[in-house]
Amino acid sequence: MIKKCLFPVAGYGTRFLPATKAMPKEILPILDKPLVQYAVEEAAEAGLCDVGFVTGRGKRAIEDHFDTSYELEHQIAGTGKEKALEGIRALIEQCTFSYTRQTTMRGLGDAILKGEAVIGDEPFGVVLADDLCIGDGRGVLAQMVGLYNQYRCSIVAIEEVPPDQTSSYGVIDGEKISDQLVRVTNMVEKPAPEDAPTNLAIIGRYILTPDIFDILRSTEPGKNGEVQITDALMEQASQGCVMAYKFSGRRFDCGSVSGYVEATNYFYENLFDEHP
Ligand code: G1P
Repeated sequence: MIKKCLFPVAGYGTRFLPATKAMPKEILPILDKPLVQYAVEEAAEAGLCDVGFVTGRGKRAIEDHFDTSYELEHQIAGTGKEKALEGIRALIEQCTFSYTRQTTMRGLGDAILKGEAVIGDEPFGVVLADDLCIGDGRGVLAQMVGLYNQYRCSIVAIEEVPPDQTSSYGVIDGEKISDQLVRVTNMVEKPAPEDAPTNLAIIGRYILTPDIFDILRSTEPGKNGEVQITDALMEQASQGCVMAYKFSGRRFDCGSVSGYVEATNYFYENLFDEHP
């Protein structure tokens, strides 16, 4: 059973400056809810209620969001406004939250390795909160947990992207198992379109087996001088143990202004439940 989920949240969010100068990008809201809450809700729905954040300087608002605000509770007690806090209260009740810090920005692979302290020796999920996902029926992470239970190896979520966008993603290639599943044989971090093996891009949802930590310890910095999770996963893939899953649902790149606006419009038109 997978119980733990890691949320790397140390990044500076430079694509969203100046909004992220004094505020974590994960606190940016889609309508009335921060991105990081959507992410934790998706993990909890998949049964991953032990939540670990790999955090950094200037990210205190995330810890405060997943804690009780007594002044606020006192202020709104007995009013209709309490309804607006029901979701986050339930999440705080349902989950445990642990924090560890990434002190130098050395890449996603390094951030995940820092998470070993809160994960230990068990399989775990990884969610990048700026990829906001809506699953068909079940959330994307819940779909992936189902696959993990079947294959018992690392799983990455993928989607097809326009060929000229491969340089923004980890890109995979492999042997097709079904319409939605590929056994990965090759992975490249952010290839130029002419070097990309396919247009199947990794999006911010992973299930990782814990041997990834030992691999990460000896993974040299790769693309952009950073330790890349894609490079470490390639090592597992060479042993036939990484599956790529074309998830059912939709994903918004909320790390970019255009994706953020698209998500905002979509949620407002389709999913917004106005508070009284
Ligand atoms: C990271 C990963 C990349 C993946 C992407 C998904 O890149 O390194 O392989 O495709 O997340 O969002 P980042 O967007 O952090 O640069």
